[in-house]
Amino acid sequence: MGTVIVIGGNRGIGIGFVNAYLQDGYAVIATYRDETRLCVETLLDSSNHVSLNGLKEKYPDRLKLYKLDIVDEEAVSEFAQTVEKVDILVLNAGVKGYSVPGTKPHEHTTQELMTALSVNTVAIDRIMRLFFPLLLNNANSCAICTGSLVGRTADNGSGGSHVYRISKAATHALIWNWSINLMNEWHLKNGGDSEKLIKTPCAVTICPGWVRTDMGGPSARLSISESVAGMKTCVSEVRKTKRSNGLYMYTGEIAEAYSVPKVLADIFLLQQASSLYT
Ligand SMILES: NC(=O)c1ccc[n+]([C@@H]2O[C@H](COP(=O)([O-])OP(=O)(O)OC[C@H]3O[C@@H](n4cnc5c(N)ncnc54)[C@H](OP(=O)(O)O)[C@@H]3O)[C@@H](O)[C@H]2O)c1
Repeated sequence: MGTVIVIGGNRGIGIGFVNAYLQDGYAVIATYRDETRLCVETLLDSSNHVSLNGLKEKYPDRLKLYKLDIVDEEAVSEFAQTVEKVDILVLNAGVKGYSVPGTKPHEHTTQELMTALSVNTVAIDRIMRLFFPLLLNNANSCAICTGSLVGRTADNGSGGSHVYRISKAATHALIWNWSINLMNEWHLKNGGDSEKLIKTPCAVTICPGWVRTDMGGPSARLSISESVAGMKTCVSEVRKTKRSNGLYMYTGEIAEAYSVPKVLADIFLLQQASSLYT
């Protein structure tokens, strides 16, 4: 069926993606940091809980586990070299940024800001850079990054959440940039072949909503299963239509639209003119 990589796949929304894509029949590579926590279970919804060890037992041939701290540049390069093909790259690893619980949202340290940027933004950018050639080799590839409405400039009427907000805003910008880079390079590579041009690889950011995880907390509105199901539908739609325009909500709504670059406008025109897409 294809290969899905989930970066930060050991708990929370990440393991939700791992479980759901395994259920769909994909081969999945899930990254984790701490092997002593591989047996820790995550509650996906009121009746389902999973751990990476449990999933490995259930899907021994289709689930591969890989130990990876995404701020370790050498380790990320080594990991990228082990991967031969990717259809869906889920860039899920992220941190809220405050090292001391209860820290007021504006009382962050420079170190906390640097850490959030280095995980949520710089490391994600580096992974995109390393996986760019593989994504570019596959017309149906899609990179998905878990963004947040909190990082949406238009959404900020309250201030606070300084560290998280800034790092996620930067992540949205960088994924949009990678999306355009992928489409531009694909078009350059496939020149006058209109059949190939409408099948460009893409990259999108999706906000999972407010989800009951370690980060979201127990009062959050959505279960992991609800959020992941919505995001997966959104990803399928984007992969089919290539309307990878900005930041999506887990429901598929566009939360933030950037002005459509020429290359994307051309794809839409080609799609409309083509009988290959319905
Ligand atoms: N929950 C929400 O309501 C919500 C809302 C909007 C956006 N999001 C975003 O969705 C993503 C997942 O959130 P979540 O709620 O599932 O968070 P979570 O429960 O705190 O899980 C965070 C995941 O990121 C991994 N991670 C953190 N730093 C890492 C590093 N340096 N290297 C590798 N992996 C690292 C963690 O691995 P370890 O177990 O090793 O720490 C864990 O797998 C995040 O990017 C978050 O910003 C969440």
